[in-house]
Amino acid sequence: MDREALKRYLSEQAFAVDRVLKSYLPSPSCDPPLLHEAMRYSLFAGGKRIRPILCIAACEAVGGQQEVVLPFASAIELIHTYSLIHDDLPAMDDDTYRRGKLTNHKMFGESTAILAGDALLTAAFSMLAEKGLAASISPKKMLRVILELGSASGSTGMVGGQLNDIEAQGKEDLSLEKLKRIHTHKTGVLIRASVRIGGILGGAGPKKLSNLTAFGEKIGLAFQIADDVLDVEGETDKLGKPVGQDQSKGRLTYPAFMGLSRAKKEAVVLVEEALSDIKTLGPEADPIRGIATFIIDREK
Ligand code: IPE
Ligand code: IPE
Ligand code: MG
Ligand code: MG
Ligand code: MG
Repeated sequence: MDREALKRYLSEQAFAVDRVLKSYLPSPSCDPPLLHEAMRYSLFAGGKRIRPILCIAACEAVGGQQEVVLPFASAIELIHTYSLIHDDLPAMDDDTYRRGKLTNHKMFGESTAILAGDALLTAAFSMLAEKGLAASISPKKMLRVILELGSASGSTGMVGGQLNDIEAQGKEDLSLEKLKRIHTHKTGVLIRASVRIGGILGGAGPKKLSNLTAFGEKIGLAFQIADDVLDVEGETDKLGKPVGQDQSKGRLTYPAFMGLSRAKKEAVVLVEEALSDIKTLGPEADPIRGIATFIIDREK
């Protein structure tokens, strides 16, 4: 898939995800209006939608249909947006800009931002259940999807990684092993789950699912390394968040640990290995292959 085709694929899928989310979430006039406004503010501030798109592409890679996976893929974005709102809070990363706009708490205040995050997290699981009933997906498959998303997001996944990240700030004795654990948990597991959910809904058997899992794990880590790299050499206007924040706030990153060029090399190797994990898949997997490369080539 060439660059232009990939760009088109990404924007078409992001558009489809946004349409589903816009029609699913309660309107801003729904009581309490402030909460629904705050939820929509961050959700529609212009994220890349990379997790839902990976989910769709994984489903297609094993022969599944975009229409089938789309509502479930979209639900993942609700979890991701909640994690960003909470990540930016003063008690966490204390950031002021996100997706090119003021962070949720700067706009609505801390209590509303916390609650908007809570509500987005909860909405993700309601959405899975509601869309699962409407699509008459087998209950067993639906439960597998819910379990994937729940365990990836919770204390042994993303939330646990966020705690490890906070705990590790300012510590001297950080090892590569610990840094890798932080990155795979705070970011990698949700990306891996997005890929696996696509595989499950696309009807992947054990072999294909295990290939996709290995792939998802590696691109998940590569994604966070790329995020660290962009904080060093990206452009604020393109990223929608100020660069240089990690260094100025003493956060733990791959570039801080091993230097910029080694960090970039690690990400490249991870993506190469990830591509080799799915080499037995056919041309239907070309979009997901393209996304893997995009993850380390991106400007935002
Ligand atoms: C940013 O995620 C936070 C990380 C987990 C690195 P994205 O880079 O996917 O952010 P959006 O969704 O495009 O805003
Ligand atoms: C965010 O990691 C991980 C989660 C939100 C779970 P970062 O703190 O590096 O993300 P940015 O740089 O603020 O987007
Ligand atoms: Mg953080
Ligand atoms: Mg942050
Ligand atoms: Mg970052």
